[in-house]
Amino acid sequence: MYLDSANLNEIKEATTYGIIKGVTTNPTILLREEVPMRESVERILQATVGDVFVQVSGNTLEQLYQSAQEIMAVSTERIIVKVPINSAGLQLISKLKAEDRNIPILGTTIFSADQAILAGLAGCAYVAPYINRMENNHINPNEVISKIRAFYDERNLPTKILGASYKNTNQVIDSFLAGAHTVTVPLDIIKKMMDKPLAQDSIEAFEKDAAKLG
Ligand code: E4P
Repeated sequence: MYLDSANLNEIKEATTYGIIKGVTTNPTILLREEVPMRESVERILQATVGDVFVQVSGNTLEQLYQSAQEIMAVSTERIIVKVPINSAGLQLISKLKAEDRNIPILGTTIFSADQAILAGLAGCAYVAPYINRMENNHINPNEVISKIRAFYDERNLPTKILGASYKNTNQVIDSFLAGAHTVTVPLDIIKKMMDKPLAQDSIEAFEKDAAKLG
């Protein structure tokens, strides 16, 4: 799984648990750190040995292409470019593929299986369905994930489903059961997955008995 954060302390802490393969960001996540994009991405690359996902910004193909160039100028190693899946985003992916840019692409802001079908056909390495934002809009994210997974599996497409936008741990479990290959979560969700009050009660009881044992 991945950590959804650009905060260096969070990245360092999450790394100690040995379960993250890299870090995902978006413009909102980067803005929280109050550091320019280039500097922030460079620091994140130093703080993790894994992949770092950075999102393009802009509304037109030209703006998106310029943004992708800026991201690839920071590094092309361990960087995965996140591209929102709409008409301009698909044009950008087509242009990067035509130029033979050997950089993996994640199709982001997925709210519907048809977007993910297009992203898979366009050659995205990953797609990111937005779980909590779907639920906020009365869309069942698990149905969307299972439809995407069925389409990819039937056609042997290599695109991986990377669930994003999580606000509780049940959403994470349900995504995996629905067919997500992986997920990205904030540190507070990782902590809620690790530290269960009931487990803590048992651990404390064992600790008391261990102390009595000497
Ligand atoms: C991935 O980086 C996504 O952009 C992110 O998970 C969205 O999360 P949010 O819906 O909590 O903003």
